[in-house]
Amino acid sequence: MNTLSRRHFLALSSIATASALILPNHSQAKGLKEILSGQSGLVTGLPKPLRHQSIPNFLSAEQLTPHFNAHYKGALRGYLAADEKIQSGSLIANGAYGATQRARAHKSNSVLLHELYFFGMTLTSNTPSLNLRTAIEKRFGSMEKWANDFQACATSASGWAVLALHTLNGKLYNVVCDKHADGLPWMSTPLIALDVYEHAYYVDYKNNKADYIKKFMPHIDWNIVSRTYQLTINS
Ligand SMILES: [Fe+2]
Repeated sequence: MNTLSRRHFLALSSIATASALILPNHSQAKGLKEILSGQSGLVTGLPKPLRHQSIPNFLSAEQLTPHFNAHYKGALRGYLAADEKIQSGSLIANGAYGATQRARAHKSNSVLLHELYFFGMTLTSNTPSLNLRTAIEKRFGSMEKWANDFQACATSASGWAVLALHTLNGKLYNVVCDKHADGLPWMSTPLIALDVYEHAYYVDYKNNKADYIKKFMPHIDWNIVSRTYQLTINS
C-alpha cells in the first residue's frame, strides 16, 4: 500500500461505528473493522489528530483549530463521560438516566460527524470513483444535480448536511441533520458530512453561510468517499 492509500485508509476511521453495524460475515467484518476503526475517538477514546491545520482559500487555522479543540474534543469528552455513567449502572434508578442516554447519542454522533468532516476534506480537488459517480448519477441524474441538492441540504440545515448510503436498499441520500443525533435513516452509512453550525464558519465567513458551503464543495475528498462507498456496498 503506498503512502497515499495508507493515509486514505487511516482517514476512513471516522465511519467505524456505522460500518460495524452493517457487516454480514465475520471475515468481511474483521477486514472492514480493522481498516475503518483506526484512529476514531469512538474506538481509542482519544481525539483523532487534525488532518489539516488550515485549508488555503477555504478555512483558516483560526477557524479550524478552535472548532476542532472545543467542539470535537468536547464531544468526545462528553461521550466518554456519558458512556461511563450509563455502563456503570448507577443511573438506572436516577432521574438523569434519560438525559444521559440522549447525551451519549448526541455526543457520539457529534464525534463521528466531526471526524467525517475534518478528515473528509482535501487540500486539492479530486473526483469520485467510476462506481460512485455512476451511483450518484443514477440516483440524482448527474453530479451537478447531486451537488445542487447537497448544497440545498446544507443551506436549510442548522447542523449538518450529509451524504449517506442506505445499506438496506443501497440508495444514496442527501439529508439534513439539525442535531447530531437526528436526520440519518437507520442502517445508513454517512459518506460526506458538512458542518453548517455557525461555529464551523463564522470566524472566516461571518454570516455568509452560502459562500462557505460553495467553497466546501471542491474540498470534498472523493478518494476517501469513493473508498468508503465501495467498502460499504461490497459488504
Ligand atoms: Fe462542528
